[in-house]
Amino acid sequence: MNDFEGLRALVTGGASGIGRATAGLLAERGAQVAVLDLDPSSVDKPLLALVADVSDDASVRTAVAQAAETLGGLDILVNNAGIGAQGTVEDNDDAEWRCVFDVNVLGMVRTARAALPHLRRSRHAAIVNTCSIAATAGLPQRALYSATKGAVYSLTLAMAADHVHEGIRVNCVNPGTADTPWVGRLLDAAPDPAAERTALEARQPTGRLVSSAEVAGAIAYLASPLSGATTGTALAVDGGMQGLRLRPAADR
Ligand SMILES: NC(=O)c1ccc[n+]([C@@H]2O[C@H](COP(=O)([O-])OP(=O)(O)OC[C@H]3O[C@@H](n4cnc5c(N)ncnc54)[C@H](O)[C@@H]3O)[C@@H](O)[C@H]2O)c1
Repeated sequence: MNDFEGLRALVTGGASGIGRATAGLLAERGAQVAVLDLDPSSVDKPLLALVADVSDDASVRTAVAQAAETLGGLDILVNNAGIGAQGTVEDNDDAEWRCVFDVNVLGMVRTARAALPHLRRSRHAAIVNTCSIAATAGLPQRALYSATKGAVYSLTLAMAADHVHEGIRVNCVNPGTADTPWVGRLLDAAPDPAAERTALEARQPTGRLVSSAEVAGAIAYLASPLSGATTGTALAVDGGMQGLRLRPAADR
């Protein structure tokens, strides 16, 4: 497919996991792609690597301006950079709540704010936010992280409403547990990593973790000019975790 031919994309958190797979897929399908990341040292040409911290407005503005200048404009913004947090509502102090909201929610606000003037000049403008199943299902030990992703979901809808008349589509993807370096780090930190992986796999009806490539495919679908009628949606890529209610194996 070459549906992104002639289009210019910026992917935040594009040096690892879902962002990396997305940047690669958009480039494969014809886009010129800039990657904004805290550490883009592993990002190779033809991708354009930009160092920036989404929790720092000045660094976001500089990186977005650099991307637009080098690529000759911007058509697609993939707001994907995010960090995790574990615990119940009793476990994270105010500083951690502020920090995770600053990256996961305000980070998307900052990049969108900086990118919108460029997107307005595009004939195929789209923003895709990486949300999570944590926005729509109650997961244990994820109070703070889930609150940020709930905010991302609502922000996606509000932005879609604000910018629909400017021809800018805004959607989000809601991955289930995806097999990325992030989840690898979580598994490594578990007392029994193999048992933890088995438990995470069993939580998804497909019986396996989601791959970065599968999430990237959904992001590309939402960002593509072929999806011009799709805005204000959340696309689940979660192995059926949100929508299905299965009977136990013995009962099927
Ligand atoms: N892995 C999962 O199971 C899963 C599930 C649902 C949603 N998500 C979401 O997907 C997104 C990507 O997750 P992943 O699993 O690929 O993670 P990852 O840790 O593999 O990659 C995240 C990337 O974001 C970058 N990043 C982090 N903070 C940043 C900042 N302040 N500024 C710029 N870049 C920053 C990191 O350097 C890294 O390259 C996140 O928003 C996450 O919440 C992940």
